[in-house]
Amino acid sequence: MGKISCIGILTSGGDSPGMNAAIRAVTRSAIANGFRVMAIYRGYEGLINDEIVEFHTENVSNIIQRGGTILKTARSHDFETTEGRKKAYKNMKKRGIDALVVIGGNGSLTGARIFAEEFDVPIIGLPGTIDNDLNGTDSTIGYDTTLNTIMECVDRIRDTATSHERIFFVEVMGRDAGFLAQNSAIAAGAEAAIIPEVLTDADQLEQFIKRGIRKSKNSSIVLVSESPKCGAMYYAERVRKEYPQYDVRVSILGHLQRGGSPSAGDRILASRLGVAAINAFMEGQRNVMMGIKNDEVVYVPFSNAIKSDKPIKEELLNVLAVLSI
Ligand code: F6P
Repeated sequence: MGKISCIGILTSGGDSPGMNAAIRAVTRSAIANGFRVMAIYRGYEGLINDEIVEFHTENVSNIIQRGGTILKTARSHDFETTEGRKKAYKNMKKRGIDALVVIGGNGSLTGARIFAEEFDVPIIGLPGTIDNDLNGTDSTIGYDTTLNTIMECVDRIRDTATSHERIFFVEVMGRDAGFLAQNSAIAAGAEAAIIPEVLTDADQLEQFIKRGIRKSKNSSIVLVSESPKCGAMYYAERVRKEYPQYDVRVSILGHLQRGGSPSAGDRILASRLGVAAINAFMEGQRNVMMGIKNDEVVYVPFSNAIKSDKPIKEELLNVLAVLSI
Protein backbone atom coordinates (compact mmCIF):
# COMPACT_ATOMS: atom_id res chain seq x y z
CA MET A 1 0.00 0.00 0.00
CA GLY A 2 1.27 3.50 -0.84
CA LYS A 3 1.91 5.91 2.01
CA ILE A 4 -1.21 7.65 3.27
CA SER A 5 -0.81 11.36 3.91
CA CYS A 6 -4.25 12.75 3.10
CA ILE A 7 -7.57 11.26 4.21
CA GLY A 8 -10.97 12.09 2.70
CA ILE A 9 -14.09 11.88 4.87
CA LEU A 10 -17.73 11.66 3.83
CA THR A 11 -21.15 10.80 5.23
CA SER A 12 -23.56 8.85 3.07
CA GLY A 13 -27.09 7.41 3.12
CA GLY A 14 -29.64 8.35 5.79
CA ASP A 15 -28.18 10.78 8.32
CA SER A 16 -27.99 9.64 11.93
CA PRO A 17 -27.44 11.47 15.24
CA GLY A 18 -23.76 11.18 16.11
CA MET A 19 -22.42 11.51 12.57
CA ASN A 20 -21.06 14.94 13.47
CA ALA A 21 -19.30 13.53 16.51
CA ALA A 22 -17.71 10.96 14.19
CA ILE A 23 -16.62 13.65 11.68
CA ARG A 24 -15.07 15.59 14.55
CA ALA A 25 -13.24 12.54 15.91
CA VAL A 26 -11.86 11.45 12.53
CA THR A 27 -10.76 14.99 11.64
CA ARG A 28 -9.06 15.75 14.95
CA SER A 29 -7.45 12.36 15.31
CA ALA A 30 -6.15 12.48 11.73
CA ILE A 31 -4.67 15.97 12.21
CA ALA A 32 -3.16 14.98 15.58
CA ASN A 33 -1.37 12.13 13.79
CA GLY A 34 0.00 14.30 10.97
CA PHE A 35 -2.53 13.58 8.20
CA ARG A 36 -4.30 16.18 6.05
CA VAL A 37 -8.08 15.93 5.99
CA MET A 38 -10.34 16.59 3.02
CA ALA A 39 -14.07 16.94 3.69
CA ILE A 40 -16.28 15.63 0.91
CA TYR A 41 -19.80 17.09 0.79
CA ARG A 42 -22.98 15.15 -0.10
CA GLY A 43 -21.47 11.69 0.18
CA TYR A 44 -20.32 9.87 -2.95
CA GLU A 45 -22.24 12.44 -4.99
CA GLY A 46 -19.77 15.08 -3.78
CA LEU A 47 -16.81 12.89 -4.66
CA ILE A 48 -18.15 12.57 -8.20
CA ASN A 49 -18.91 16.31 -8.44
CA ASP A 50 -15.68 17.39 -6.73
CA GLU A 51 -17.34 19.11 -3.74
CA ILE A 52 -14.26 18.87 -1.57
CA VAL A 53 -12.59 21.27 0.89
CA GLU A 54 -9.72 20.88 3.30
CA PHE A 55 -10.74 20.61 6.97
CA HIS A 56 -8.79 21.91 9.96
CA THR A 57 -9.55 21.35 13.65
CA GLU A 58 -11.72 24.48 13.85
CA ASN A 59 -14.02 23.19 11.08
CA VAL A 60 -15.30 20.61 13.54
CA SER A 61 -15.67 22.88 16.59
CA ASN A 62 -19.07 23.02 18.25
CA ILE A 63 -20.61 20.12 16.32
CA ILE A 64 -20.46 17.17 18.73
CA GLN A 65 -23.93 18.01 20.08
CA ARG A 66 -25.60 18.56 16.70
CA GLY A 67 -27.82 16.00 14.95
CA GLY A 68 -27.66 15.39 11.19
CA THR A 69 -24.36 15.80 9.36
CA ILE A 70 -22.51 19.03 8.62
CA LEU A 71 -21.11 17.34 5.49
CA LYS A 72 -24.65 16.78 4.12
CA THR A 73 -25.53 13.38 2.76
CA ALA A 74 -27.04 11.69 -0.27
CA ARG A 75 -27.92 8.33 -1.74
CA SER A 76 -25.91 8.46 -4.96
CA HIS A 77 -27.24 6.58 -7.98
CA ASP A 78 -24.28 7.71 -10.08
CA PHE A 79 -21.91 5.96 -7.71
CA GLU A 80 -23.69 2.70 -8.54
CA THR A 81 -22.31 2.98 -12.08
CA THR A 82 -18.72 2.27 -13.17
CA GLU A 83 -18.70 5.62 -14.93
CA GLY A 84 -19.62 7.43 -11.69
CA ARG A 85 -17.01 5.60 -9.65
CA LYS A 86 -14.33 6.43 -12.27
CA LYS A 87 -15.14 10.12 -11.87
CA ALA A 88 -14.98 9.76 -8.09
CA TYR A 89 -11.56 8.13 -8.31
CA LYS A 90 -10.27 10.81 -10.68
CA ASN A 91 -11.30 13.53 -8.22
CA MET A 92 -9.65 11.68 -5.35
CA LYS A 93 -6.38 11.61 -7.26
CA LYS A 94 -6.75 15.25 -8.37
CA ARG A 95 -7.19 16.32 -4.74
CA GLY A 96 -4.35 14.15 -3.49
CA ILE A 97 -6.65 12.02 -1.33
CA ASP A 98 -4.97 8.68 -0.56
CA ALA A 99 -7.64 7.03 1.58
CA LEU A 100 -11.25 7.45 2.65
CA VAL A 101 -13.33 7.25 5.81
CA VAL A 102 -16.95 6.51 4.92
CA ILE A 103 -19.59 7.05 7.60
CA GLY A 104 -22.88 5.40 6.70
CA GLY A 105 -25.09 2.34 6.72
CA ASN A 106 -25.44 -0.82 4.72
CA GLY A 107 -25.75 0.75 1.25
CA SER A 108 -22.89 3.16 1.86
CA LEU A 109 -20.51 0.43 3.02
CA THR A 110 -21.55 -1.77 0.10
CA GLY A 111 -20.50 1.12 -2.18
CA ALA A 112 -17.24 1.46 -0.22
CA ARG A 113 -16.47 -2.20 -0.69
CA ILE A 114 -16.98 -2.09 -4.47
CA PHE A 115 -14.96 1.14 -4.84
CA ALA A 116 -12.11 -0.21 -2.70
CA GLU A 117 -11.84 -3.39 -4.75
CA GLU A 118 -12.19 -1.67 -8.12
CA PHE A 119 -9.59 1.06 -7.62
CA ASP A 120 -7.43 -0.34 -4.83
CA VAL A 121 -8.37 2.50 -2.50
CA PRO A 122 -7.84 2.07 1.27
CA ILE A 123 -11.19 2.69 2.99
CA ILE A 124 -12.28 2.48 6.61
CA GLY A 125 -16.03 2.45 7.32
CA LEU A 126 -17.82 3.75 10.39
CA PRO A 127 -21.29 2.33 11.12
CA GLY A 128 -23.57 5.37 10.87
CA THR A 129 -27.23 4.40 10.79
CA ILE A 130 -30.22 4.48 13.10
CA ASP A 131 -31.21 0.97 11.95
CA ASN A 132 -28.46 -0.94 13.84
CA ASP A 133 -28.43 -3.44 10.98
CA LEU A 134 -24.66 -3.76 10.49
CA ASN A 135 -23.01 -6.98 11.60
CA GLY A 136 -19.98 -7.12 13.87
CA THR A 137 -20.78 -4.15 16.08
CA ASP A 138 -23.06 -4.14 19.11
CA SER A 139 -24.48 -0.77 18.14
CA THR A 140 -24.36 1.68 15.25
CA ILE A 141 -23.94 5.45 15.56
CA GLY A 142 -27.42 6.97 15.92
CA TYR A 143 -29.28 3.88 17.09
CA ASP A 144 -29.26 4.75 20.79
CA THR A 145 -30.48 8.31 20.22
CA THR A 146 -33.30 7.11 17.97
CA LEU A 147 -34.35 4.49 20.51
CA ASN A 148 -34.62 7.23 23.11
CA THR A 149 -36.58 9.48 20.74
CA ILE A 150 -39.07 6.71 19.98
CA MET A 151 -39.39 5.89 23.67
CA GLU A 152 -40.25 9.52 24.50
CA CYS A 153 -42.85 9.62 21.71
CA VAL A 154 -44.46 6.39 22.87
CA ASP A 155 -44.58 7.67 26.46
CA ARG A 156 -46.68 10.56 25.16
CA ILE A 157 -48.87 8.36 23.00
CA ARG A 158 -49.47 6.17 26.04
CA ASP A 159 -51.21 9.07 27.84
CA THR A 160 -53.83 9.48 25.16
CA ALA A 161 -54.12 5.74 24.45
CA THR A 162 -54.94 5.09 28.11
CA SER A 163 -57.39 7.97 28.32
CA HIS A 164 -59.37 6.80 25.30
CA GLU A 165 -58.84 3.07 25.89
CA ARG A 166 -57.46 2.56 22.40
CA ILE A 167 -55.05 0.29 20.58
CA PHE A 168 -52.24 2.27 18.96
CA PHE A 169 -50.08 0.91 16.20
CA VAL A 170 -46.90 3.00 16.24
CA GLU A 171 -44.77 2.60 13.12
CA VAL A 172 -41.03 3.10 13.41
CA MET A 173 -38.12 3.07 10.96
CA GLY A 174 -35.52 0.34 10.59
CA ARG A 175 -35.76 -0.55 6.90
CA ASP A 176 -35.60 -4.38 6.98
CA ALA A 177 -34.49 -4.63 10.60
CA GLY A 178 -36.61 -4.79 13.75
CA PHE A 179 -34.06 -3.57 16.33
CA LEU A 180 -35.71 -0.17 16.76
CA ALA A 181 -39.21 -1.63 17.09
CA GLN A 182 -38.25 -4.46 19.43
CA ASN A 183 -36.08 -2.49 21.82
CA SER A 184 -38.20 0.65 21.91
CA ALA A 185 -41.16 -1.61 22.72
CA ILE A 186 -39.24 -2.95 25.72
CA ALA A 187 -38.10 0.54 26.77
CA ALA A 188 -41.58 2.04 26.53
CA GLY A 189 -43.38 -0.90 28.14
CA ALA A 190 -45.39 -1.56 24.99
CA GLU A 191 -47.64 -4.59 24.68
CA ALA A 192 -46.05 -6.01 21.52
CA ALA A 193 -43.68 -5.46 18.62
CA ILE A 194 -44.26 -6.66 15.09
CA ILE A 195 -40.88 -7.08 13.41
CA PRO A 196 -39.64 -8.56 10.12
CA GLU A 197 -37.26 -11.01 11.81
CA VAL A 198 -40.12 -13.01 13.28
CA LEU A 199 -41.20 -14.87 10.19
CA THR A 200 -43.21 -17.55 11.88
CA ASP A 201 -46.26 -19.15 10.30
CA ALA A 202 -48.19 -17.69 13.17
CA ASP A 203 -49.83 -14.35 12.49
CA GLN A 204 -48.13 -11.72 14.71
CA LEU A 205 -51.37 -9.73 15.00
CA GLU A 206 -53.30 -12.82 16.02
CA GLN A 207 -50.71 -13.59 18.68
CA PHE A 208 -50.87 -10.05 20.02
CA ILE A 209 -54.64 -9.99 20.23
CA LYS A 210 -54.63 -13.28 22.12
CA ARG A 211 -51.83 -12.19 24.43
CA GLY A 212 -52.02 -8.43 24.68
CA ILE A 213 -55.67 -7.55 25.00
CA ARG A 214 -56.91 -8.73 28.32
CA LYS A 215 -59.60 -7.80 30.74
CA SER A 216 -57.20 -5.91 32.98
CA LYS A 217 -55.97 -3.63 30.19
CA ASN A 218 -58.13 -1.45 28.05
CA SER A 219 -55.41 0.14 25.96
CA SER A 220 -52.40 -1.22 24.13
CA ILE A 221 -49.41 -0.01 22.21
CA VAL A 222 -47.89 -2.09 19.44
CA LEU A 223 -44.62 -1.04 17.82
CA VAL A 224 -44.56 -1.98 14.14
CA SER A 225 -41.48 -2.02 11.92
CA GLU A 226 -41.97 -0.03 8.74
CA SER A 227 -42.85 -2.15 5.72
CA PRO A 228 -44.35 -1.26 2.34
CA LYS A 229 -47.04 -3.94 2.69
CA CYS A 230 -47.56 -4.63 6.38
CA GLY A 231 -46.88 -1.44 8.26
CA ALA A 232 -49.02 0.08 11.01
CA MET A 233 -51.83 1.00 8.59
CA TYR A 234 -52.16 -2.60 7.46
CA TYR A 235 -52.55 -3.91 11.02
CA ALA A 236 -54.94 -1.14 12.04
CA GLU A 237 -57.17 -1.93 9.05
CA ARG A 238 -57.19 -5.59 9.95
CA VAL A 239 -58.19 -4.88 13.54
CA ARG A 240 -61.00 -2.62 12.34
CA LYS A 241 -62.33 -5.43 10.17
CA GLU A 242 -61.58 -8.49 12.28
CA TYR A 243 -62.08 -7.02 15.79
CA PRO A 244 -64.54 -4.12 15.40
CA GLN A 245 -64.99 -3.95 19.19
CA TYR A 246 -61.60 -2.21 19.51
CA ASP A 247 -60.95 1.48 18.90
CA VAL A 248 -57.76 1.73 16.84
CA ARG A 249 -55.39 4.54 15.92
CA VAL A 250 -52.10 4.74 13.99
CA SER A 251 -49.09 6.92 14.59
CA ILE A 252 -46.26 6.89 12.05
CA LEU A 253 -43.25 8.56 13.65
CA GLY A 254 -41.38 9.14 10.38
CA HIS A 255 -38.31 11.33 10.08
CA LEU A 256 -38.55 12.91 13.51
CA GLN A 257 -36.85 9.67 14.59
CA ARG A 258 -33.66 10.63 12.73
CA GLY A 259 -33.21 14.12 14.13
CA GLY A 260 -32.11 15.56 17.44
CA SER A 261 -29.02 15.94 19.54
CA PRO A 262 -27.11 12.66 19.90
CA SER A 263 -27.21 10.79 23.22
CA ALA A 264 -24.07 10.49 25.36
CA GLY A 265 -23.85 6.86 24.22
CA ASP A 266 -23.78 7.82 20.53
CA ARG A 267 -21.28 10.65 21.07
CA ILE A 268 -18.92 8.32 22.91
CA LEU A 269 -19.37 5.53 20.34
CA ALA A 270 -18.71 7.95 17.45
CA SER A 271 -15.67 9.43 19.19
CA ARG A 272 -14.14 6.03 19.94
CA LEU A 273 -14.74 4.73 16.42
CA GLY A 274 -13.44 7.91 14.79
CA VAL A 275 -10.16 7.72 16.69
CA ALA A 276 -9.97 3.98 16.02
CA ALA A 277 -10.41 4.55 12.27
CA ILE A 278 -7.23 6.63 12.10
CA ASN A 279 -5.35 4.12 14.27
CA ALA A 280 -6.55 1.42 11.85
CA PHE A 281 -4.97 3.21 8.88
CA MET A 282 -1.73 3.57 10.84
CA GLU A 283 -1.75 -0.16 11.54
CA GLY A 284 -2.10 -0.87 7.81
CA GLN A 285 -5.77 -1.91 8.00
CA ARG A 286 -8.03 -1.23 5.03
CA ASN A 287 -11.48 -2.14 3.80
CA VAL A 288 -12.89 -2.84 7.22
CA MET A 289 -15.66 -1.29 9.27
CA MET A 290 -14.81 -0.25 12.80
CA GLY A 291 -17.13 -1.68 15.41
CA ILE A 292 -17.38 -2.16 19.16
CA LYS A 293 -18.07 -5.65 20.52
CA ASN A 294 -18.17 -6.28 24.25
CA ASP A 295 -16.65 -2.84 24.82
CA GLU A 296 -13.60 -3.58 22.61
CA VAL A 297 -12.85 -1.94 19.26
CA VAL A 298 -12.98 -4.50 16.45
CA TYR A 299 -12.24 -4.54 12.71
CA VAL A 300 -15.04 -6.05 10.65
CA PRO A 301 -14.37 -6.85 6.96
CA PHE A 302 -16.90 -5.03 4.77
CA SER A 303 -18.23 -8.34 3.44
CA ASN A 304 -19.23 -9.41 6.99
CA ALA A 305 -20.51 -6.01 8.10
CA ILE A 306 -23.02 -5.71 5.28
CA LYS A 307 -24.49 -9.23 5.50
CA SER A 308 -28.22 -8.86 5.92
CA ASP A 309 -28.62 -11.35 8.73
CA LYS A 310 -27.81 -9.53 11.98
CA PRO A 311 -29.89 -11.52 14.45
CA ILE A 312 -32.23 -10.19 17.09
CA LYS A 313 -31.65 -12.14 20.30
CA GLU A 314 -34.43 -14.56 21.24
CA GLU A 315 -33.97 -13.28 24.77
CA LEU A 316 -35.27 -9.83 23.74
CA LEU A 317 -38.41 -11.35 22.23
CA ASN A 318 -38.94 -13.20 25.48
CA VAL A 319 -38.38 -10.12 27.67
CA LEU A 320 -41.10 -8.21 25.85
CA ALA A 321 -43.48 -11.16 25.85
CA VAL A 322 -43.05 -11.83 29.58
CA LEU A 323 -43.30 -8.19 30.64
CA SER A 324 -46.35 -7.38 28.57
CA ILE A 325 -48.72 -9.83 30.26
O1 F6P B 1 -31.53 3.73 6.82
C1 F6P B 1 -32.03 4.75 7.61
C2 F6P B 1 -33.48 5.03 7.31
O2 F6P B 1 -33.93 6.02 8.19
C3 F6P B 1 -34.40 3.80 7.35
O3 F6P B 1 -34.76 3.46 8.66
C4 F6P B 1 -35.54 4.26 6.50
O4 F6P B 1 -36.19 3.15 5.90
C5 F6P B 1 -34.87 5.10 5.45
O5 F6P B 1 -33.63 5.51 5.99
C6 F6P B 1 -35.66 6.31 5.03
O6 F6P B 1 -34.99 6.94 4.00
P1 F6P B 1 -35.34 8.40 3.43
O7 F6P B 1 -34.88 9.41 4.44
O8 F6P B 1 -34.59 8.48 2.16
O9 F6P B 1 -36.82 8.45 3.28
